[in-house]
Amino acid sequence: MGAQVFNNPKDHEVLSRLFEYVLGGKGGIVMDFFAGSGTTAEAVFELCARTGLNCSVILVQLPELLEDNFKAATGSAKTTIQNAIKLLEDLDKPLTIAELTKLRVQRAGAQVLAKRQASDWNGDVGFRAFTVDTTNKAIVETSPEATEQQQLAGLIDTFKSERSSIDILFEALLDSGLDVTSSVASETVGKHEVLDFDDGFMLACLDDEIDDEVVRAIAMRKPATAIFKDSGFGNDDERINAMQVFALLAPDAVVKVL
Ligand SMILES: C[S@@+](CC[C@H](N)C(=O)[O-])C[C@H]1O[C@@H](n2cnc3c(N)ncnc32)[C@H](O)[C@@H]1O
Repeated sequence: MGAQVFNNPKDHEVLSRLFEYVLGGKGGIVMDFFAGSGTTAEAVFELCARTGLNCSVILVQLPELLEDNFKAATGSAKTTIQNAIKLLEDLDKPLTIAELTKLRVQRAGAQVLAKRQASDWNGDVGFRAFTVDTTNKAIVETSPEATEQQQLAGLIDTFKSERSSIDILFEALLDSGLDVTSSVASETVGKHEVLDFDDGFMLACLDDEIDDEVVRAIAMRKPATAIFKDSGFGNDDERINAMQVFALLAPDAVVKVL
């Protein structure tokens, strides 16, 4: 990290040896629910590079505000948090411990990869960072008494306007019990974004104003599952047309309209 930016980070070499002992020569998933500076990830990367095991790691960390911690800290602990704030400010990152965790995992991964010895390890130091939040689905349940005329327009979209297509896709993956570590690629078809999950297993277009071009392009690729937004179709006719395109071009595909 280039400076002391976390108070009391644990020893990653000791942890790495401990994980090796506990895993007993088998791969596995190591989970740390109090991730802090992310030492567990570096320890797992080192374990994999050393032994050739392929392990996954799950870190959970609160986005604790460093500025609050700074106010409460004294002495050298204060200097450490100041270093952390400077590091994240220089990188234009939010000033939270969770950002430090991500940064450490990225830098430790690159470092372990750079000095790895020949082993069977797949060298995968990539990771995804998720934030626990409320559902992406807009709350549309209401009663006539509680609804003003001008509110009706806001009840059309089934998803919260501030949520991205990727947010919606990952909720759909979780709902479908699919592996959130699988590949996700984004491509453009006409004026639309198509999200490709797991090399074409699931294709999603979560844009508005869906047109025939993108529906046909997705159907032609015969995904196992295709996902669209209900509010993406201008009207029922367009939605029915899309279903008919799939019936013709990809009859085995499961088409989900969220
Ligand atoms: C003692 S530190 C962990 C240090 C870590 N082992 C390391 O080597 O850097 C504990 C961390 O757990 C986080 N934490 C505390 N309660 C938590 C919770 N309920 N969920 C997630 N993280 C939490 C704190 O923000 C703190 O960063």
